[in-house]
Amino acid sequence: MRPASKLSLYRDASDQWRLIEADALLALKAIPDACIEAVLVDPPYAIAVCGEAWDSFDGGTRAAGQNFERWTQGWAAEALRVLRPGGHMISFGSARTFHRLTSGVETAGFEIRDVLMWLFAQGVPKSQRLPGGLGTTLKPAYEPILLARKPFTGTATSNLRRFGTGVLHIDATRIGDARYWPAHLAFSHATTCTDDACASDCPVALVDQQRPSLNRLFFCAKATKVEREAGCEQLPLQSGHLYTGKRKSPRVRRNVHPTVKPIELMRWLVRLVTPAGGIVLDPFAGSGTTGIAAMLEGRGFVGIEREPRYVDIACARLTHWAATCGAGGGSAVKGPAVPSKHQRKEARKKGGTRC
Ligand SMILES: C[S@@+](CC[C@H](N)C(=O)[O-])C[C@H]1O[C@@H](n2cnc3c(N)ncnc32)[C@H](O)[C@@H]1O
Repeated sequence: MRPASKLSLYRDASDQWRLIEADALLALKAIPDACIEAVLVDPPYAIAVCGEAWDSFDGGTRAAGQNFERWTQGWAAEALRVLRPGGHMISFGSARTFHRLTSGVETAGFEIRDVLMWLFAQGVPKSQRLPGGLGTTLKPAYEPILLARKPFTGTATSNLRRFGTGVLHIDATRIGDARYWPAHLAFSHATTCTDDACASDCPVALVDQQRPSLNRLFFCAKATKVEREAGCEQLPLQSGHLYTGKRKSPRVRRNVHPTVKPIELMRWLVRLVTPAGGIVLDPFAGSGTTGIAAMLEGRGFVGIEREPRYVDIACARLTHWAATCGAGGGSAVKGPAVPSKHQRKEARKKGGTRC
């Protein structure tokens, strides 16, 4: 049952995750300064994804872009405040509006550190189809991911010693059996490819074949139906505006969030920027994937989500995965927004346990 206050808070007996049902800006203001190790967020992109109102910014192309940038600056400034010095923020974006996202984040005070790309093969072109083989968009095949950092004074080593942040966890995110250094992605044919066949380690071929075991790069397919629905068995079936490609009818699902990220990708990103036992914040939590990834990596999670229908889905998924983790489980109950010092110490002791 949903508590009636404006800023409702959910957690379960495992106490590994907390989800605030509220507008992100309002809820962020309730979080104390410098108590979060990493922000991992998939915010609205201002592209009206699947016709969702929460992804629309009014004002025509240019003004909408400016509104989106100003709005981004607002939440990013709060994210900066709650991060520990040197804490990283990772934010997904859309190729069309990424410049606004990056500017907003930089104006808020973050250092822009890198841009990663998530390649996928299952994008659906949302193009008008005009006679004569004409169209208006390309097929989307990647999402850019911004890597930013809260500035700190002194060296990375001294900041790491003092706050546990400011560095990337390279060994925790190395790729494949050969343990390659994690890349922000290069996507081209291998030099040994011929016109007839790709080399066995060519990324183009690897994406094509979806054979992650052979990768030098981190490849991850979109979330499967099974992954999206796990934990949602008690929720009602609904018809959702999911990416349907050529399918004309809306899909009937229990998890109807239209932009569910894959857990594996989020786990890799959690490991990259969050020290063992640290807390990950996602101010636009959606169906809770960031929180699931944080728990599976032994980190704490604080999420914010405004839409009650998604809060229900996120609570169900988080409760399910907390139990799977052996972290407790049970139904969502009310509690304080950020874990206490003692609770964090306990979580640190568990540090980095994987399921
Ligand atoms: C791109 S989705 C996140 C999806 C998520 N990564 C997942 O895997 O399910 C962005 C989410 O932000 C939420 N949202 C939009 N505006 C918000 C606001 N002002 N405050 C809190 N949540 C908001 C939307 O309801 C949506 O669920």
